[in-house]
Amino acid sequence: MKVTVIGAGYVGLTTALALAYIGHDVAVVEKDREKLEILREGRSPLYEKGLDELLKIVREDVFFTENLDDCVPSADIVMIAVGTPAKKNGEADLSYVEQAVKGIAESLRPGGSYTIVIKSTVPVGTNEMVSQKLSQLLNQRNVSCDVHIVSNPEFLREGMALQDTFYPERIVVGTRSRKAISDLQQLYQPITQQTFTPPEFLPRPNGLQLPHFIIVEPASAEMIKYAANAFLALKISFINEIAGLCEKVGADITDVAKGIGTDKRIGNSFLNAGIGWGGSCFPKDTLALLELARQKGYAMPIVAAAREVNYRMRKEAVAKLRKHLGDFKGKKVAVLGLAFKPGTDDLRDAPALDIIRELLAEGAEVSACDPVALRNARKAFEGVANISFFEDPYEAALGADAVVLATEWPQWANIDFGRLRQQVRNPLFFDGRNFFNPDEVFKSGFQYLGVGR
Ligand code: UGA
Repeated sequence: MKVTVIGAGYVGLTTALALAYIGHDVAVVEKDREKLEILREGRSPLYEKGLDELLKIVREDVFFTENLDDCVPSADIVMIAVGTPAKKNGEADLSYVEQAVKGIAESLRPGGSYTIVIKSTVPVGTNEMVSQKLSQLLNQRNVSCDVHIVSNPEFLREGMALQDTFYPERIVVGTRSRKAISDLQQLYQPITQQTFTPPEFLPRPNGLQLPHFIIVEPASAEMIKYAANAFLALKISFINEIAGLCEKVGADITDVAKGIGTDKRIGNSFLNAGIGWGGSCFPKDTLALLELARQKGYAMPIVAAAREVNYRMRKEAVAKLRKHLGDFKGKKVAVLGLAFKPGTDDLRDAPALDIIRELLAEGAEVSACDPVALRNARKAFEGVANISFFEDPYEAALGADAVVLATEWPQWANIDFGRLRQQVRNPLFFDGRNFFNPDEVFKSGFQYLGVGR
């Protein structure tokens, strides 16, 4: 099928390359010239496992352009995958979606038949809005064509984007159009039936179950996306809240999580206590959900509490250090891990950033360390004093009064605590992700602090 994907962010680019890989004829429209140039050179503008390799394989088959006119008229499917950042009040900003819709309406060929897929995370009601806007714009142009709109939310995780795209658990399709359903069945068929030959670097997991293909009303598809993210966010906040109480009563949250997670009704994933969630999704989507509820005059105390607990974790991390160091004046803190999670260079709403800002505000000197996110970190702290950047954790720890692990990069799993101990001035280690075995850290002469243990 001929597919145009609008927006080369995590979702758009990953989806576009995967669709090209499984045999579709794909064009990507991206307005950011710098990004476009990088893509045309065959490199990924995002740090994401496997994306460079996949780009190498499909480079010749994907057309990168900044003009919708180059590809929309001849497309069967047009996918909107632009950003929907949060406005000041928390509401999702739909201006990029609206621009895309306007551009599509101007490019559709009279008499053509198109399925328009909304992949961006958008508030409930957007499908309806896009539908109305498109017909209004087409009317203004005095053009008639056969347009089918479908909400097809994305569930990929950063750092696992390709894995989640090639081997998803479900594909959600929200539409009232039979044509759109059959187009999306055809589009995703190699994935729903797992008939493609896996890329060498991304083998098919053993025992993989075929994904569910879930067909629902548009509003339900839109709600599924928000409800999924809000539920995952609150699951983490729940375990973090329990972690706080564990500290007070001498229980260990990692044991508690294991104990409850083996109950299938609860499940053991997303029960890692720590300094909480960040990124571009949970913070933005929980806020957008609350704003939507507010507009409808409906209270959502559980989602609100998930946010409250989450941001409290960051404050508590600093409070814990303060308790052990006295105050921060003249103290040096090494923060290991800046990205909001491992596998990405994304710093959006990363817990590490808030923690660092607070430490700096209270007079600490900070050595910030990350294996891939330093470029973005330097930008985020441009012009800020008392912060220096390192790729190497041992260098970052030199002369530190405390070492904080804020992101559990797997390459640090075997960190040599003996060597780290020799670098620091004061052996205090705060494991903000409960990543290490406390005994191992302790054996090397550190005082170990975790979250809820
Ligand atoms: C999340 C969802 O998991 C995806 O399904 C969804 O598609 C995506 O948002 C989106 O809406 O685009 P992502 O934000 O990439 O994906 O990352 P997650 O793996 O969900 O992690 C989010 C945050 O939760 C990270 O800061 C991570 O450190 C934290 N986390 C995760 C915990 O603190 N504990 C856990 O047990 C799991």
